[in-house]
Amino acid sequence: MGSLARDVLSARPIHDFERSVFKPIARSSVPPSFSSAVMRALTQDVKRALASDEASIRAGMEGVWPKAGYRYLHGLIYSGDLNFSNSLSRFPTGRSWMRRRSSANGYGSLLRDSESPSALAKMVAEVPEGEKGLAIVLYRRAVSALCSSASALLTNTLWLSSPLNPGVPIDNIVLESLRLLPPAWMLRRKASREYAEINDAINESDNVFIFPFLIHRNPEAWSSPEVFDPDRWYDIEDPDLLEDYLPFGYTNNRCWARHLILQLVKKVLQEASRIGLSAVEKQGKVKVPLNPLLSISSPKFRASLNQV
Ligand code: HEM
Repeated sequence: MGSLARDVLSARPIHDFERSVFKPIARSSVPPSFSSAVMRALTQDVKRALASDEASIRAGMEGVWPKAGYRYLHGLIYSGDLNFSNSLSRFPTGRSWMRRRSSANGYGSLLRDSESPSALAKMVAEVPEGEKGLAIVLYRRAVSALCSSASALLTNTLWLSSPLNPGVPIDNIVLESLRLLPPAWMLRRKASREYAEINDAINESDNVFIFPFLIHRNPEAWSSPEVFDPDRWYDIEDPDLLEDYLPFGYTNNRCWARHLILQLVKKVLQEASRIGLSAVEKQGKVKVPLNPLLSISSPKFRASLNQV
């Protein structure tokens, strides 16, 4: 199953409109220089947050996730931008912004109002006026993608592993959570000739959907696939080489943020473990709605140890 998915994902480059964070804005492609600048800024921002003292990383984790997780991560990484991001909401973006270019000025002063702006906010403030609309859309998309996807992954991992066992390597716990509940549970590709050439069952006019969620539970590839078993990862050196494991996609289109996300999520889990953050209700049946990002619905997490 995994090899067909990999054949499809590597058959042609991803189209602009199939992208997520960097899909076109007002029908124009996002210039690669912009995407790279956003990813560089995001990396700086996450690294800065992770370098803060551990008590600050531990603060604010309790509540009903994934919403509480979004708030927590936004506070951890982008709290310095509060004034800046609130003010951005006043500015129109997309086509209407392009027409009213001259009305958008004063970003420098917005930035000065912010306590300790993120690298992403500085990037928005520094781009030439003609590209400001583009930069604002990317700021919003990137912050939201980072906080919502990391929160989805953390929600699933915290719930599946609750209470976190400090004797089990966090890497294994996260890999297993990404297997059983991959936040990016479905990938889509617009119909194209290349896919029809891969397999007779695919016609040229067929849009193709790939489900990491199902591939990760294929009983021919995984023993006891429905069981959360972090131990299965002990002897696996490079998960990227596994045919039936695609939590971050495959080949050239593999997620640009995967190392960053893993670093962030592992650090947060380490600190969550120190304060004994665990699900308030005993694990049982839970809802996992098929939203664009797959995550368990509304588990409540509470710390059982002193947070200091
Ligand atoms: C838990 C967090 C995340 C997961 C599980 C995830 C998963 C994925 C997957 C499965 C793909 C392949 C998509 C496809 O082939 O259609 C992908 C691609 C990509 N991801 Fe992520 N992602 C995460 C977070 C992020 C974040 C925070 C960003 C940046 C803000 C990001 C940026 C990208 C980019 C740039 C691509 C390449 C395709 C494109 O240009 O859109 N990802 N990701």
